[in-house]
Amino acid sequence: MVLLEADKITKRFGGLVANDSISFEVKNGELLGLIGPNGAGKTTLFNCISGAHQIDSGRILFDGKDITKLNSYEVARLGLARTFQIYVASGDLNVLENIMVGCFMRTSSTAKAKSMAEAVLKELELTDIAKSMMNELPVAVQKRVTMATALGTSPKLLLLDEVAAGLNPSEIENIMTVIRYIHEKMGITVVLIEHVMEMVMKLSQRVIVLDYGKKIAEGDPSSVVRHPDVIRAYLGERYAREYAATRPDSGA
Ligand SMILES: Nc1ncnc2c1ncn2[C@@H]1O[C@H](COP(=O)(O)OP(=O)(O)OP(=O)(O)O)[C@@H](O)[C@H]1O
Ligand SMILES: [Mg+2]
Repeated sequence: MVLLEADKITKRFGGLVANDSISFEVKNGELLGLIGPNGAGKTTLFNCISGAHQIDSGRILFDGKDITKLNSYEVARLGLARTFQIYVASGDLNVLENIMVGCFMRTSSTAKAKSMAEAVLKELELTDIAKSMMNELPVAVQKRVTMATALGTSPKLLLLDEVAAGLNPSEIENIMTVIRYIHEKMGITVVLIEHVMEMVMKLSQRVIVLDYGKKIAEGDPSSVVRHPDVIRAYLGERYAREYAATRPDSGA
């Protein structure tokens, strides 16, 4: 079953076409990677899908409904959540309360929102820092909290925008475990924007590549990194060989 369908999404900023007639589908239960050089239009695509931007043309269907004209709150209520590349936590709220904000989308009861938020903290092994303020926490933990905040809204589809940026290799391993858990154990469909290619290669079932606002490639991870346009626009020859070798199905 198709959960998200983007049909020729176009978004312009003045003369710049940040998303140029991009079409793709996300199947229910899938983990899709979205890659491309800086400025390719990845975050813009998340903004369009999640209702933060109104698109100039095209159509977006989510879970069988036309969400093209909906705002971010309406889209989130339907079960589409995202993290932000630059996350600004609500300054006066602790971790638990930040997550409760999302839970209030599903309930008007404070007690129910609290127990929902506590359940999310437990799933992501964050119970110990429930009372901490965001700016007191190490970056790696903050990243996990941003995912917890999105999960508080009980999404069907989670859009992750560079949750591994700025992390060291062991923190990246850790965040991959969290993403696998969200995808496999919690059963949530995931689209992942990421520059850490090792992560994209290990986690994604399928990858889409953007360059200058256009979709230039789509397919399984090992064939996408061998695609001449992807090598030219993003990876370079040497890296393409290395990344292909990290795939279990690469035969390397
Ligand atoms: N609100 C905006 N107003 C004007 N231009 C914008 C806006 N948001 C993005 N852009 C431009 O659109 C293009 C795509 O930006 P976007 O942030 O989507 O790229 P990205 O693929 O997420 O890049 P990165 O990997 O660096 O995060 C860039 O040229 C950017 O400067
Ligand atoms: Mg971005």
